Amino acid sequence: MTGTPFQVRDAVWRDLLALRRGEGPGAEHAWDPAWALYEPIARRRATSFVVAQVGQSLDGRVATVDGDAAPISGPDGFAHLHRLRALADAVIVGAGCVVADDPRLTVREVEGPSPARVVIDPSGRVPAGAKCVAGVGGAILVRAEDCAATEDGASLRLPREADGRLCPRALLAALADRGLRTILVEGGAATIRHFLQAGLVDRLHVTVAPIIIGSGAPGLLLDPVSHLSEALRPRCRVTPLGSDTLFDCAFDRGPVEPSRAPSA
Ligand SMILES: NC(=O)c1ccc[n+]([C@@H]2O[C@H](COP(=O)([O-])OP(=O)(O)OC[C@H]3O[C@@H](n4cnc5c(N)ncnc54)[C@H](OP(=O)(O)O)[C@@H]3O)[C@@H](O)[C@H]2O)c1
Repeated sequence: MTGTPFQVRDAVWRDLLALRRGEGPGAEHAWDPAWALYEPIARRRATSFVVAQVGQSLDGRVATVDGDAAPISGPDGFAHLHRLRALADAVIVGAGCVVADDPRLTVREVEGPSPARVVIDPSGRVPAGAKCVAGVGGAILVRAEDCAATEDGASLRLPREADGRLCPRALLAALADRGLRTILVEGGAATIRHFLQAGLVDRLHVTVAPIIIGSGAPGLLLDPVSHLSEALRPRCRVTPLGSDTLFDCAFDRGPVEPSRAPSA
């Protein structure tokens, strides 16, 4: 890789964290690549802003067929993920991700606050001892209204839609009511898919590590399309992070494609 290596200078990161606390705009960093990358996420908004992220292999995998998922991202991809967590109010994962990987979902690789942890677990299959559930402050467990599991006030009940899913838009509204508006959807593929198909993703960050797995769980999975003209074509900026390459994809809000929108 040639050119100036991507770096997040301490002064820039400090001002991004200040912006995240609503204390911006801080110093003038408009020329700085790290500021340009993270400022849209650090900026506070009156409405929800959703960043979905995937750390995948060159062939678009996030785990082997046997579920081995670590380490796919290199150290710079991992640090990027932790920066996203530090700038988010809340991080959302699906039950599959928690059962497979038991992530902590905290910020450890960079300075900054850990986000609220939100687990979409409609039927209550995530063990109570999962790290992100049992950790400091616990997690917001998102259940279907018909779920028999009982727990404390940390849970959030949503109705199932006709297809059995919980509506991501309703989830964002419920989180916004709790003051959680900058949202990181960390996976897995099924969870990101629901947000993408509802047209609720503002940014998709895909970090690609130079490893080829050849088979196994995909990072992104959408309904099949017949023609490439139906494929998503976000505006995309590529940033070599070092060990990994980041594709920062911007979507305009709105249904991704009418025939794929979830039923009302
Ligand atoms: N590299 C990365 O960036 C990354 C990040 C995260 C995960 N992963 C990998 O991803 C894999 C897991 O992904 P996955 O796609 O199998 O599972 P997932 O997206 O983590 O979880 C899917 C499950 O979450 C629940 N869920 C999520 N959204 C829902 C909605 N809108 N309505 C109702 N239920 C919803 C459902 O639970 P029920 O099935 O209980 O109904 C669904 O089956 C693992 O291999 C993990 O290693 C990789």
